[in-house]
Amino acid sequence: MRPDPSRLPIFSATVDSDSQVPRHVAIVMDGNGRWAKNRYLPRVFGHKQGVDALVRTVATCADRGVEYLTVFAFSSENWKRPEEEVSGLMGLVLVAVSKYLAKLAGEGVCIRIVGDRTAVSDKVRQAWHQAESATAHNRRIILSVAFNYGGRWDVVQACRQAITAGLSPEELDEQRLSQFMAMSYAPDPDLFIRTGGEMRISNFLLWQVAYAELFFTDCLWPDFGAEEIDAAFAAYRRRDRRFGGVKPEGQFAGNLAR
Ligand code: FPP
Repeated sequence: MRPDPSRLPIFSATVDSDSQVPRHVAIVMDGNGRWAKNRYLPRVFGHKQGVDALVRTVATCADRGVEYLTVFAFSSENWKRPEEEVSGLMGLVLVAVSKYLAKLAGEGVCIRIVGDRTAVSDKVRQAWHQAESATAHNRRIILSVAFNYGGRWDVVQACRQAITAGLSPEELDEQRLSQFMAMSYAPDPDLFIRTGGEMRISNFLLWQVAYAELFFTDCLWPDFGAEEIDAAFAAYRRRDRRFGGVKPEGQFAGNLAR
């Protein structure tokens, strides 16, 4: 199999392999609705503020040396929300791309979209395509936006691809299946953050978070910023990562599994 160019190492002047900064951070950006409700504003206004929080978070993570940031922007289950909110979120994709694409591209951000694109409108599909192609060459940080994504969807679509590729049951193992997953270009997340006070995974990256450190905060997503990121990273540094094994004496095992 030819190597996927997107799996080539990221070039960063500031990060080394022993860094205690999580290499891959995954975030469930929860709390936009409550943030808006607290201000007597429509829920979509909270999502709009959420885009600003996302752009800030990308910059802070890149500054701290994070190589991959993956965020849950629209789940397979979010179609159940009121039509007004769903169309507001779809419209926000277009606004976000036109408002922030040039800035993110200039900051060395590579944008990738993960999820089922078949169900989204042509306009949204085109906006995502524009964001991906304009930033494909960037390597400072890979921002993966999970959109119409679900962890269970990902496992099923990977199995379908494996079957289509003609793999026999004996050939299929964890590594082979991983190659068909939507995020096969990235290492598994080291740190999983969920804002908004709920403590659940909500069908995000189910396969990939097997050994991620989990961090939950009451902070509502639009209020999330550098202070909260640093608190999450400080908690991460205190974790004892063993990946089912035994940690070498006196050593931080943060990035040892790769
Ligand atoms: C969960 O908060 C958040 C979402 C379902 C959407 C997250 C989207 C963004 C932050 C905007 C990013 C968008 C783009 C286009 C990149 P919630 O609505 O469930 O909040 P609540 O729990 O307070 O109701």
